[in-house]
Amino acid sequence: MNLDQIIAADSAQIPLYAKRDIALVRGEGNYLFDSDGNRYLDAMSNYGVASLGHAHPAFTAALVDQVGKLTTTHQSFYNDARSQFLEEIARIAPAGVGRSFLSNSGTEAIESALKFARIATGRSGIVAAKRGYHGRTLGALSATAEKKYREPFEGILGQQATHVSFNDLEALEAAVSDETAAIVLEPVQGEGGIHLGDAAWLQRAADLASTYGSILIFDEVQSGFRTGAPFYSVAQGVTPDIIVTAKAIANGLPVGVTLVTDAIADQVPGGAHGSTFGGNPLVSRGGAETLRIMREDDLYGQAARVGSYVIAGIEALGSKKVRAVRGTGLMFGIELKAKAGPTLKALQGRGILALMAGTLVIRFLPPMTWTEQQADELIAVLADILGD
Ligand SMILES: Cc1ncc(COP(=O)(O)O)c(C=O)c1O
Repeated sequence: MNLDQIIAADSAQIPLYAKRDIALVRGEGNYLFDSDGNRYLDAMSNYGVASLGHAHPAFTAALVDQVGKLTTTHQSFYNDARSQFLEEIARIAPAGVGRSFLSNSGTEAIESALKFARIATGRSGIVAAKRGYHGRTLGALSATAEKKYREPFEGILGQQATHVSFNDLEALEAAVSDETAAIVLEPVQGEGGIHLGDAAWLQRAADLASTYGSILIFDEVQSGFRTGAPFYSVAQGVTPDIIVTAKAIANGLPVGVTLVTDAIADQVPGGAHGSTFGGNPLVSRGGAETLRIMREDDLYGQAARVGSYVIAGIEALGSKKVRAVRGTGLMFGIELKAKAGPTLKALQGRGILALMAGTLVIRFLPPMTWTEQQADELIAVLADILGD
Protein backbone atom coordinates (compact mmCIF):
# COMPACT_ATOMS: atom_id res chain seq x y z
CA MET A 1 0.00 0.00 0.00
CA ASN A 2 1.22 3.51 -0.69
CA LEU A 3 0.68 6.41 1.75
CA ASP A 4 -2.53 7.61 0.06
CA GLN A 5 -4.05 4.13 0.15
CA ILE A 6 -3.04 3.66 3.78
CA ILE A 7 -4.61 7.00 4.77
CA ALA A 8 -7.81 6.31 2.79
CA ALA A 9 -8.37 2.97 4.51
CA ASP A 10 -7.49 4.43 7.93
CA SER A 11 -10.24 7.06 7.62
CA ALA A 12 -12.79 4.33 8.42
CA GLN A 13 -11.69 4.63 12.06
CA ILE A 14 -13.37 6.97 14.53
CA PRO A 15 -11.08 10.03 14.42
CA LEU A 16 -9.90 9.83 18.03
CA TYR A 17 -6.22 10.59 17.42
CA ALA A 18 -4.44 13.68 16.15
CA LYS A 19 -2.67 12.11 13.17
CA ARG A 20 0.93 12.58 12.12
CA ASP A 21 1.36 12.58 8.35
CA ILE A 22 3.51 9.48 7.84
CA ALA A 23 2.85 5.74 7.87
CA LEU A 24 5.44 3.70 9.78
CA VAL A 25 5.85 0.32 8.16
CA ARG A 26 9.11 -1.15 9.43
CA GLY A 27 11.64 -0.89 12.23
CA GLU A 28 15.25 -1.91 12.69
CA GLY A 29 16.97 -1.43 16.04
CA ASN A 30 16.61 2.18 17.13
CA TYR A 31 15.26 3.36 13.76
CA LEU A 32 11.87 3.34 12.03
CA PHE A 33 11.02 3.55 8.32
CA ASP A 34 7.98 5.08 6.66
CA SER A 35 6.09 3.90 3.57
CA ASP A 36 8.33 6.06 1.36
CA GLY A 37 11.48 4.47 2.78
CA ASN A 38 12.50 7.49 4.92
CA ARG A 39 14.42 6.62 8.09
CA TYR A 40 13.65 8.09 11.53
CA LEU A 41 15.51 7.95 14.83
CA ASP A 42 13.05 6.45 17.31
CA ALA A 43 13.01 8.73 20.35
CA MET A 44 9.53 7.68 21.50
CA SER A 45 9.35 3.84 21.16
CA ASN A 46 5.60 4.07 20.55
CA TYR A 47 4.83 5.93 23.78
CA GLY A 48 7.43 4.03 25.75
CA VAL A 49 6.68 0.53 24.51
CA ALA A 50 9.43 -0.72 22.16
CA SER A 51 11.98 -1.16 24.93
CA LEU A 52 14.30 -3.42 22.89
CA GLY A 53 13.96 -1.36 19.72
CA HIS A 54 12.57 -2.95 16.58
CA ALA A 55 12.99 -6.42 15.11
CA HIS A 56 15.32 -7.44 17.95
CA PRO A 57 16.70 -10.81 16.73
CA ALA A 58 16.32 -12.85 19.95
CA PHE A 59 12.88 -11.40 20.70
CA THR A 60 11.75 -12.09 17.13
CA ALA A 61 13.06 -15.67 17.22
CA ALA A 62 11.26 -16.36 20.52
CA LEU A 63 7.97 -15.09 19.14
CA VAL A 64 8.29 -17.02 15.88
CA ASP A 65 8.94 -20.16 17.90
CA GLN A 66 5.94 -19.48 20.15
CA VAL A 67 3.58 -18.71 17.24
CA GLY A 68 4.39 -22.14 15.87
CA LYS A 69 3.61 -23.78 19.22
CA LEU A 70 0.67 -22.12 20.95
CA THR A 71 -0.68 -18.57 20.99
CA THR A 72 -3.75 -18.78 23.21
CA THR A 73 -4.47 -20.67 26.41
CA HIS A 74 -6.97 -19.49 28.98
CA GLN A 75 -5.76 -18.94 32.53
CA SER A 76 -7.83 -21.92 33.67
CA PHE A 77 -5.02 -24.04 32.15
CA TYR A 78 -1.36 -23.86 33.16
CA ASN A 79 1.13 -22.90 30.47
CA ASP A 80 4.93 -23.02 30.26
CA ALA A 81 5.42 -19.62 28.55
CA ARG A 82 3.23 -17.92 31.16
CA SER A 83 5.20 -19.54 33.96
CA GLN A 84 8.48 -18.41 32.37
CA PHE A 85 7.10 -14.85 32.30
CA LEU A 86 6.03 -15.12 35.95
CA GLU A 87 9.52 -16.34 36.89
CA GLU A 88 11.05 -13.29 35.19
CA ILE A 89 8.54 -11.00 36.90
CA ALA A 90 9.46 -12.57 40.26
CA ARG A 91 13.07 -11.44 39.70
CA ILE A 92 12.04 -7.77 39.48
CA ALA A 93 9.13 -7.68 41.94
CA PRO A 94 10.01 -5.96 45.22
CA ALA A 95 10.00 -8.16 48.33
CA GLY A 96 6.46 -8.76 49.52
CA VAL A 97 4.77 -7.49 46.34
CA GLY A 98 5.11 -10.58 44.20
CA ARG A 99 1.59 -11.80 43.42
CA SER A 100 0.38 -10.78 39.99
CA PHE A 101 -2.59 -10.35 37.72
CA LEU A 102 -1.85 -10.36 33.98
CA SER A 103 -3.89 -8.25 31.59
CA ASN A 104 -3.49 -6.52 28.23
CA SER A 105 -2.85 -2.82 28.82
CA GLY A 106 -1.93 -0.17 31.34
CA THR A 107 -5.49 0.96 31.90
CA GLU A 108 -6.65 -2.61 32.57
CA ALA A 109 -3.84 -3.07 35.06
CA ILE A 110 -4.97 0.10 36.87
CA GLU A 111 -8.58 -1.01 36.67
CA SER A 112 -7.72 -4.28 38.41
CA ALA A 113 -5.63 -2.47 41.03
CA LEU A 114 -8.60 -0.26 41.92
CA LYS A 115 -10.88 -3.28 42.19
CA PHE A 116 -8.37 -5.08 44.41
CA ALA A 117 -8.05 -1.98 46.62
CA ARG A 118 -11.81 -1.81 46.89
CA ILE A 119 -11.96 -5.47 47.91
CA ALA A 120 -9.12 -5.11 50.42
CA THR A 121 -10.52 -1.98 52.12
CA GLY A 122 -14.27 -2.04 51.49
CA ARG A 123 -13.93 1.65 50.62
CA SER A 124 -14.24 3.64 47.42
CA GLY A 125 -12.31 6.91 47.87
CA ILE A 126 -9.31 7.61 45.64
CA VAL A 127 -6.56 10.15 46.19
CA ALA A 128 -4.52 10.86 43.06
CA ALA A 129 -2.33 13.66 41.73
CA LYS A 130 -3.04 16.67 39.57
CA ARG A 131 -1.61 16.20 36.06
CA GLY A 132 -1.75 12.42 36.73
CA TYR A 133 -2.61 10.02 33.91
CA HIS A 134 -3.75 6.46 34.55
CA GLY A 135 -5.72 5.45 31.46
CA ARG A 136 -9.12 5.87 29.86
CA THR A 137 -11.37 3.03 31.02
CA LEU A 138 -13.98 4.29 33.47
CA GLY A 139 -12.24 3.18 36.68
CA ALA A 140 -8.80 4.36 35.61
CA LEU A 141 -10.31 7.59 34.33
CA SER A 142 -11.52 8.33 37.88
CA ALA A 143 -7.87 8.58 38.88
CA THR A 144 -6.74 10.44 35.73
CA ALA A 145 -6.76 14.19 36.40
CA GLU A 146 -7.03 15.87 33.00
CA LYS A 147 -10.43 17.57 32.61
CA LYS A 148 -10.67 17.05 28.86
CA TYR A 149 -10.48 13.26 29.28
CA ARG A 150 -12.94 13.15 32.20
CA GLU A 151 -15.55 15.75 31.36
CA PRO A 152 -17.66 13.80 28.83
CA PHE A 153 -17.96 10.96 31.33
CA GLU A 154 -18.55 12.74 34.64
CA GLY A 155 -21.33 10.92 36.46
CA ILE A 156 -20.42 7.46 35.20
CA LEU A 157 -16.78 7.34 36.33
CA GLY A 158 -16.05 4.33 38.52
CA GLN A 159 -15.01 6.18 41.66
CA GLN A 160 -14.69 9.75 42.87
CA ALA A 161 -11.15 11.04 43.29
CA THR A 162 -9.47 13.92 45.07
CA HIS A 163 -6.52 15.26 43.07
CA VAL A 164 -3.67 16.82 45.04
CA SER A 165 -0.67 18.80 43.80
CA PHE A 166 2.28 16.57 42.89
CA ASN A 167 5.08 16.50 45.47
CA ASP A 168 2.93 18.53 47.93
CA LEU A 169 3.25 16.85 51.34
CA GLU A 170 0.59 18.90 53.10
CA ALA A 171 -1.97 18.45 50.33
CA LEU A 172 -1.47 14.69 50.46
CA GLU A 173 -1.78 14.62 54.25
CA ALA A 174 -5.01 16.65 54.08
CA ALA A 175 -6.57 14.42 51.40
CA VAL A 176 -5.99 10.92 52.78
CA SER A 177 -8.50 9.72 55.38
CA ASP A 178 -10.14 6.57 56.68
CA GLU A 179 -12.43 6.73 53.65
CA THR A 180 -9.52 6.36 51.23
CA ALA A 181 -9.41 3.02 49.46
CA ALA A 182 -6.42 3.87 47.30
CA ILE A 183 -3.71 6.47 46.84
CA VAL A 184 -2.80 6.24 43.15
CA LEU A 185 0.38 7.98 42.01
CA GLU A 186 2.81 7.93 39.12
CA PRO A 187 6.28 8.00 40.72
CA VAL A 188 7.35 9.86 37.57
CA GLN A 189 4.56 11.70 35.78
CA GLY A 190 4.76 11.07 32.04
CA GLU A 191 1.77 12.54 30.21
CA GLY A 192 1.78 15.35 32.78
CA GLY A 193 5.14 16.63 31.52
CA ILE A 194 7.93 14.46 33.05
CA HIS A 195 7.97 15.30 36.75
CA LEU A 196 9.96 13.18 39.20
CA GLY A 197 8.29 12.29 42.49
CA ASP A 198 10.37 13.23 45.54
CA ALA A 199 11.42 10.20 47.58
CA ALA A 200 10.10 11.92 50.73
CA TRP A 201 6.70 12.50 49.13
CA LEU A 202 6.44 8.93 47.88
CA GLN A 203 7.44 7.68 51.34
CA ARG A 204 4.83 9.93 52.98
CA ALA A 205 2.21 8.35 50.71
CA ALA A 206 3.31 4.91 51.96
CA ASP A 207 3.16 6.08 55.58
CA LEU A 208 -0.30 7.61 55.14
CA ALA A 209 -1.59 4.46 53.46
CA SER A 210 -0.33 2.44 56.38
CA THR A 211 -1.80 4.84 59.00
CA TYR A 212 -5.26 4.89 57.41
CA GLY A 213 -5.38 1.31 56.16
CA SER A 214 -5.48 2.49 52.53
CA ILE A 215 -3.79 0.80 49.57
CA LEU A 216 -0.87 2.61 47.92
CA ILE A 217 -0.80 2.02 44.16
CA PHE A 218 2.24 3.16 42.21
CA ASP A 219 1.51 3.44 38.50
CA GLU A 220 4.76 2.53 36.77
CA VAL A 221 3.10 1.94 33.40
CA GLN A 222 5.32 4.57 31.78
CA SER A 223 8.19 4.90 34.25
CA GLY A 224 8.76 1.14 34.55
CA PHE A 225 12.15 -0.17 33.32
CA ARG A 226 13.43 2.91 31.50
CA THR A 227 14.59 5.02 34.47
CA GLY A 228 17.55 2.78 35.27
CA ALA A 229 15.71 0.19 37.38
CA PRO A 230 12.64 -1.97 36.91
CA PHE A 231 10.65 0.41 39.12
CA TYR A 232 11.54 4.03 39.88
CA SER A 233 9.67 3.99 43.22
CA VAL A 234 11.47 0.93 44.53
CA ALA A 235 14.82 2.42 43.47
CA GLN A 236 13.89 5.45 45.61
CA GLY A 237 13.46 3.09 48.57
CA VAL A 238 9.64 3.16 48.65
CA THR A 239 7.60 -0.01 48.19
CA PRO A 240 3.84 0.28 47.70
CA ASP A 241 1.05 -2.28 48.21
CA ILE A 242 0.43 -2.50 44.47
CA ILE A 243 2.68 -1.75 41.48
CA VAL A 244 1.10 -1.49 38.07
CA THR A 245 3.15 -1.70 34.91
CA ALA A 246 2.71 -2.29 31.16
CA LYS A 247 4.24 -0.62 28.06
CA ALA A 248 7.98 -1.54 28.04
CA ILE A 249 7.57 -4.92 29.77
CA ALA A 250 6.84 -6.84 26.57
CA ASN A 251 8.49 -4.73 23.84
CA GLY A 252 5.28 -3.98 21.98
CA LEU A 253 3.05 -6.88 22.83
CA PRO A 254 -0.05 -5.88 24.81
CA VAL A 255 0.63 -6.74 28.45
CA GLY A 256 -0.45 -5.18 31.74
CA VAL A 257 0.87 -6.46 35.06
CA THR A 258 -0.62 -5.72 38.48
CA LEU A 259 1.71 -6.75 41.31
CA VAL A 260 0.17 -6.97 44.78
CA THR A 261 1.10 -8.05 48.29
CA ASP A 262 0.19 -11.50 49.63
CA ALA A 263 -2.30 -9.83 51.99
CA ILE A 264 -4.20 -8.31 49.04
CA ALA A 265 -3.94 -11.41 46.85
CA ASP A 266 -5.37 -13.55 49.61
CA GLN A 267 -8.46 -11.35 49.93
CA VAL A 268 -9.42 -11.36 46.23
CA PRO A 269 -12.14 -13.99 45.75
CA GLY A 270 -11.93 -16.32 42.74
CA GLY A 271 -13.87 -14.89 39.82
CA ALA A 272 -13.66 -11.28 41.09
CA HIS A 273 -11.68 -10.31 38.00
CA GLY A 274 -10.34 -11.91 34.83
CA SER A 275 -9.34 -11.57 31.19
CA THR A 276 -9.60 -13.83 28.14
CA PHE A 277 -6.36 -12.62 26.58
CA GLY A 278 -4.39 -11.84 29.75
CA GLY A 279 -1.33 -14.03 30.21
CA ASN A 280 -1.69 -15.77 26.86
CA PRO A 281 1.33 -17.83 25.73
CA LEU A 282 2.36 -15.48 22.92
CA VAL A 283 2.54 -12.27 24.95
CA SER A 284 3.92 -14.15 27.94
CA ARG A 285 6.79 -15.51 25.85
CA GLY A 286 7.40 -11.97 24.57
CA GLY A 287 7.34 -10.59 28.11
CA ALA A 288 9.65 -13.31 29.42
CA GLU A 289 12.10 -12.69 26.58
CA THR A 290 11.99 -8.91 27.02
CA LEU A 291 12.73 -9.15 30.76
CA ARG A 292 15.48 -11.72 30.16
CA ILE A 293 17.19 -9.47 27.59
CA MET A 294 16.85 -6.38 29.81
CA ARG A 295 18.46 -8.32 32.66
CA GLU A 296 21.21 -10.15 30.78
CA ASP A 297 22.18 -7.14 28.61
CA ASP A 298 21.87 -4.79 31.62
CA LEU A 299 19.59 -2.44 29.72
CA TYR A 300 18.75 -0.88 33.09
CA GLY A 301 22.34 0.30 33.50
CA GLN A 302 22.46 1.34 29.85
CA ALA A 303 19.26 3.42 30.21
CA ALA A 304 20.72 5.15 33.28
CA ARG A 305 24.06 5.86 31.57
CA VAL A 306 22.74 6.99 28.19
CA GLY A 307 19.94 8.95 29.91
CA SER A 308 22.41 10.95 32.02
CA TYR A 309 24.53 11.56 28.93
CA VAL A 310 21.68 12.84 26.76
CA ILE A 311 20.08 14.97 29.50
CA ALA A 312 23.47 16.60 30.24
CA GLY A 313 23.99 17.15 26.51
CA ILE A 314 20.64 18.91 26.11
CA GLU A 315 21.26 21.07 29.19
CA ALA A 316 24.68 22.00 27.81
CA LEU A 317 23.03 23.50 24.72
CA GLY A 318 21.90 26.33 27.01
CA SER A 319 19.03 27.18 24.66
CA LYS A 320 17.11 30.36 25.44
CA LYS A 321 13.97 28.64 24.14
CA VAL A 322 14.09 26.07 26.95
CA ARG A 323 12.52 26.61 30.37
CA ALA A 324 13.63 23.30 31.91
CA VAL A 325 15.07 19.90 31.06
CA ARG A 326 13.65 17.15 33.31
CA GLY A 327 13.88 13.41 33.62
CA THR A 328 15.94 10.41 34.56
CA GLY A 329 17.26 7.53 32.51
CA LEU A 330 15.52 7.26 29.15
CA MET A 331 12.44 9.17 30.30
CA PHE A 332 13.11 12.85 29.80
CA GLY A 333 11.50 16.00 28.52
CA ILE A 334 12.23 19.55 27.47
CA GLU A 335 9.81 22.21 28.67
CA LEU A 336 9.83 25.04 26.15
CA LYS A 337 8.87 28.66 26.71
CA ALA A 338 6.46 28.44 23.76
CA LYS A 339 4.12 25.74 22.45
CA ALA A 340 5.96 22.52 21.64
CA GLY A 341 4.00 21.53 18.49
CA PRO A 342 6.27 23.30 15.97
CA THR A 343 9.39 21.83 17.59
CA LEU A 344 7.93 18.32 17.44
CA LYS A 345 7.18 18.85 13.74
CA ALA A 346 10.66 20.22 13.11
CA LEU A 347 12.17 17.15 14.78
CA GLN A 348 10.09 14.87 12.55
CA GLY A 349 11.18 16.90 9.53
CA ARG A 350 14.78 16.24 10.59
CA GLY A 351 14.09 12.51 10.97
CA ILE A 352 13.49 12.22 14.71
CA LEU A 353 10.23 10.96 16.23
CA ALA A 354 9.42 12.28 19.71
CA LEU A 355 6.24 13.07 21.67
CA MET A 356 4.47 15.93 23.37
CA ALA A 357 3.41 15.97 27.01
CA GLY A 358 0.85 18.72 27.46
CA THR A 359 1.34 21.79 25.27
CA LEU A 360 4.82 22.92 26.32
CA VAL A 361 6.86 19.76 26.78
CA ILE A 362 8.68 17.64 24.19
CA ARG A 363 8.86 14.16 25.66
CA PHE A 364 11.42 11.47 24.88
CA LEU A 365 10.88 7.77 25.67
CA PRO A 366 13.47 6.06 23.47
CA PRO A 367 14.15 2.34 23.27
CA MET A 368 16.38 1.17 26.13
CA THR A 369 18.82 -0.01 23.46
CA TRP A 370 19.84 3.59 22.73
CA THR A 371 23.58 4.23 22.96
CA GLU A 372 25.57 7.47 23.06
CA GLN A 373 25.42 7.42 19.24
CA GLN A 374 21.65 7.94 19.17
CA ALA A 375 21.96 10.50 21.99
CA ASP A 376 24.49 12.47 19.91
CA GLU A 377 22.18 12.39 16.87
CA LEU A 378 19.36 13.88 18.95
CA ILE A 379 21.58 16.50 20.58
CA ALA A 380 22.96 17.62 17.20
CA VAL A 381 19.48 18.15 15.73
CA LEU A 382 18.23 19.88 18.90
CA ALA A 383 21.24 22.20 18.73
CA ASP A 384 19.97 23.38 15.31
CA ILE A 385 16.28 23.51 16.14
CA LEU A 386 16.62 25.13 19.56
CA GLY A 387 19.45 27.46 18.53
CA ASP A 388 18.90 31.24 18.28
C1 LIG B 1 1.20 6.25 33.76
C2 LIG B 1 0.23 5.61 32.84
N1 LIG B 1 -0.74 4.84 33.35
C3 LIG B 1 -1.64 4.21 32.56
C4 LIG B 1 -1.60 4.35 31.19
C5 LIG B 1 -2.60 3.65 30.33
O1 LIG B 1 -1.97 2.65 29.61
P1 LIG B 1 -2.64 2.05 28.27
O2 LIG B 1 -2.62 3.12 27.24
O3 LIG B 1 -1.78 0.87 27.94
O4 LIG B 1 -4.03 1.64 28.63
C6 LIG B 1 -0.60 5.14 30.62
C7 LIG B 1 -0.54 5.33 29.16
O5 LIG B 1 0.08 6.22 28.64
C8 LIG B 1 0.33 5.79 31.46
O6 LIG B 1 1.31 6.56 30.96
